[in-house]
Amino acid sequence: MPISGKTRIVGLFGYPVEHTLSPYMQNAAFSHCGADYCYVPFSVHPDHLKNAVEAIRSLNLCGVNLTIPHKEACIPFLDQLDEEARVIGAVNTITTESGRLIGHNTDGRGFVMALREQGIAIEGSRALVIGAGGASRAVAYYLSRAASTLHIYNRTRKKAEELASVLSYAGGKADIIDDISSLPDYDLIVNATSLGLQDNDPLPLDPALLRPSQSVCDLIYRRTPLLQHATQKGCRTVDGLGMLLWQGAYSFELWTGIKPPVEVMRTALLTIVK
Ligand code: ATR
Repeated sequence: MPISGKTRIVGLFGYPVEHTLSPYMQNAAFSHCGADYCYVPFSVHPDHLKNAVEAIRSLNLCGVNLTIPHKEACIPFLDQLDEEARVIGAVNTITTESGRLIGHNTDGRGFVMALREQGIAIEGSRALVIGAGGASRAVAYYLSRAASTLHIYNRTRKKAEELASVLSYAGGKADIIDDISSLPDYDLIVNATSLGLQDNDPLPLDPALLRPSQSVCDLIYRRTPLLQHATQKGCRTVDGLGMLLWQGAYSFELWTGIKPPVEVMRTALLTIVK
């Protein structure tokens, strides 16, 4: 789409932003829908985040996505948070309404849809989430409401405790476990730690414990060693690319009000990661 005087600008604030995949899928979606929008990554140093968020208003941007390390830090500069962003304590999407900046979090919804399209329903499931950082919080928000059991394990117990108490305050249910050297019969196991990002990382859990009836999800975008082991054990596996896709689809809808062309976005993502 040619950029005109009417083109609405959507941004991504991150630091670094060089490796982001979002511009490919968002611009493909705008173009497919004939929507006069353009998605631009901005490398925003943490010291400049407040100015950058204020610039959404002063530059009349349509909205932005936020990625590491800004998802939590942006909150004090916003006018309003939706329910998910408030409970999760992190914002991945900002929209503007009459000059007001509204924070949303579409990561958790994205996770649920990524599983659902693989035929995995979280409703009534027995689930384990490993990790209690930002990604885990978004996922656990939904699981704590829909699963029959949600266990959270984290290297630093205190963070798992904080997460469980926030979730229970918000009407969900989660229990902390201190040991994953043996596992009850979970339906769904989610790795929400950063283990697997680097090739020489240890595995987040012993793959010998996995059973073929289980679904294993890793929030990392590629097929991690955990997912490779899980496939060998006969488990269903889901990587983080589906969550990236669907969180982006929900953001697209928030900004444009248009039903997102998910398959166009998926093709754009798959083309770039191949
Ligand atoms: P994100 O936003 O991607 O969730 P984060 O908030 O930094 O990133 O959280 C990273 C998660 O990975 C945390 O749960 C972290 O555990 P701690 O709370 O104990 O730090 C987990 N993690 C990172 N490195 C780990 C390691 N070597 N072993 C176990 N857990 C690890």
